[in-house]
Amino acid sequence: MGVERTLAIIKPDAVEKNAAGAILKAIQDAGLRVIGLKMLHLSEQQARGFYAVHKARPFYADLVKFMTSGPVVVVALEGENAIAHWRELMGPTDSTKAAKGTIRGDWGTDVERNAAHGSDAPETARVEIAYWFNATEMQAPVEALP
Ligand code: RTP
Ligand code: MG
Repeated sequence: MGVERTLAIIKPDAVEKNAAGAILKAIQDAGLRVIGLKMLHLSEQQARGFYAVHKARPFYADLVKFMTSGPVVVVALEGENAIAHWRELMGPTDSTKAAKGTIRGDWGTDVERNAAHGSDAPETARVEIAYWFNATEMQAPVEALP
């Protein structure tokens, strides 16, 4: 535990609903700090690479199609227990099972169109943040400040 970093993505369905601002506010209201932020329209190659861990899964092609269907907002977050905290705030993968008040409960539609992504472990968080952000595109680690 302690202070962690995690990678969030506001997915194309939520951006299309103009919910990016509401989701960023929910993140900040929950006490997580935004330390990196960019809007991107993913290429097929970027989406395939990001979700490579799922390439053998039956939903992979649909997932890549969905993630490239419109712009996303990629967000690096920092905070106490940030990985689990953000996943708790998102709710379960299947939006139909997510409680109101969670990101997926409020903005998702189903198991695929589920409004947001969150890293699932410290090592994946590190790799996923580095996948989208250069050191100059996000807040430096405290120990790197002069
Ligand atoms: P994420 O990685 O996006 O935060 O979601 P997650 O950990 O809750 O779920 P994961 O198993 O990693 O799945 C990644 C994304 O693939 C889509 N999905 N579709 N059709 C399906 O059965 C299915 N299952 C997963 C979702 O968009 C999910 O977030
Ligand atoms: Mg996942």
